Amino acid sequence: MEYPFWDVPLLGGGMLIGIIAILHVFVAHFAIGSGLFLVLSEIRARRTGDEALLGYLKRHSTFFILVALVFGAISGVGIWWAIGLVHPSATSALIHIFVWAWAIEWVFFIVELLAAFIYYYGWNRLDPRTHIRVGWIYLAGAWLSLFMINGILTFMLTPGKWVETRSIVDAFFNPSMLPSLVVRTAVAVALAGLYALITASAEADESLRERVVKYASKWVLVGMTVIPIGGIWYISRIPDQAREISMGGAPVVTLFAAASVVFSAFVFLATLAGPFLFPRRFHVTFAFVIVALGLVTTGVTEWVREAVRKPYIIYDYMYSNAVRTEDVQNVWERGVLASAKWSLLDEQDKQDLLRMGEKVFRFHCQSCHTVNGFNGIKFAVKGWKKDFIDMQLQNLDQLKGYMPPFLGTEEERKALTEWLYSLNNPVEVQQAASR
Ligand code: HEC
Repeated sequence: MEYPFWDVPLLGGGMLIGIIAILHVFVAHFAIGSGLFLVLSEIRARRTGDEALLGYLKRHSTFFILVALVFGAISGVGIWWAIGLVHPSATSALIHIFVWAWAIEWVFFIVELLAAFIYYYGWNRLDPRTHIRVGWIYLAGAWLSLFMINGILTFMLTPGKWVETRSIVDAFFNPSMLPSLVVRTAVAVALAGLYALITASAEADESLRERVVKYASKWVLVGMTVIPIGGIWYISRIPDQAREISMGGAPVVTLFAAASVVFSAFVFLATLAGPFLFPRRFHVTFAFVIVALGLVTTGVTEWVREAVRKPYIIYDYMYSNAVRTEDVQNVWERGVLASAKWSLLDEQDKQDLLRMGEKVFRFHCQSCHTVNGFNGIKFAVKGWKKDFIDMQLQNLDQLKGYMPPFLGTEEERKALTEWLYSLNNPVEVQQAASR
């Protein structure tokens, strides 16, 4: 509880991170898969002397550089910006726990960037063998940076033995790291095919278009077949409570988990029934429809992966509201506002329960709730009487496993109750009613 709280109205900070991150993921995985797609396809084209295919690959690589590297790099920076502002405590924890992992990741990322530009500008300047070699170097850099990020990301849900040992090796090679790597690699392969469907379907030469469309569709189908296998393995590795949340424990999350499966099936079936079986009739509009389905699938799946981590931001270590598990006792004794360095509690707050309640909400609840937007607290407490709100606050973690315990003092609880009640019952109305 070391930092100020950044209020993102209506959306909430978590959603802001989510929107940027989902766009980034959708492009970054494409960047990795395309490395493999370009290299393997180039080898094939050179072996068979297929000039038409080579021409397509050159055109595809322009699209690749623009979308993958330019947008990928900008949105990647966007994630750092958002997580640093929305959740400075967790960002700081991740930086400190993984200093060397980040350093290694940056090296791989630089290799990836340099190799991509050399590959792109080398089509007519490098000899074929060197060009393909640069392609392999690109792929290695790109996949290894996924390897690094994946270890850090999975740590947040399954820190495993790190909770006791505090060793970076245990943190990185955590229980869900490998299955998640399999899933993400398969996603990269599928997305390489998905984006190639766009460029392929825009080719003018009919026979080339048909050939590449069919070829690209196979990449989608192979990737989409591996994803559920890795997915089941992944689900078997996550904490029981996280699994339960997605299987009935929290209705919205369960709905999204189901949507993830349904939309994945749509992508698979649309690819099978469209570009794979009828490549000749495939049209660029259809390609965009499948890509849009892919984006929705990525969105709901990543959202579920984030949602099941509640009540933690880093499992068993830090709650979403920035209270570390080891500090629970301490916060509980001192109170929320005294523990939050930036609560800026003043005399006026102490005299005005509503002001105090709003601050308690900000520092203790607002990491997951907005006031009247996404997961808005105003709607959650609508129709509730004061006693009922108070009772809920005393049992927050027991009533709903995805919320941390309420750690405020008795006075803070009263203040929060008053403020929550006032959201749907403005003070003037309360006074009028009691008159
Ligand atoms: C870790 C994230 C998180 C934190 C922190 C959190 N909540 Fe929640 N809360 C949720 C989620 C998720 C839901 C369920 C939303 C849904 O059902 O769609 C919820 C639901 C609720 C509900 C409705 C419960 C019901 O029975 O319908 C209330 C009331 C509530 N929260 C109050 C609070 C208060 C007060 C705080 C701060 C002391 C708080 N929450 C902190 C995640 C959180």
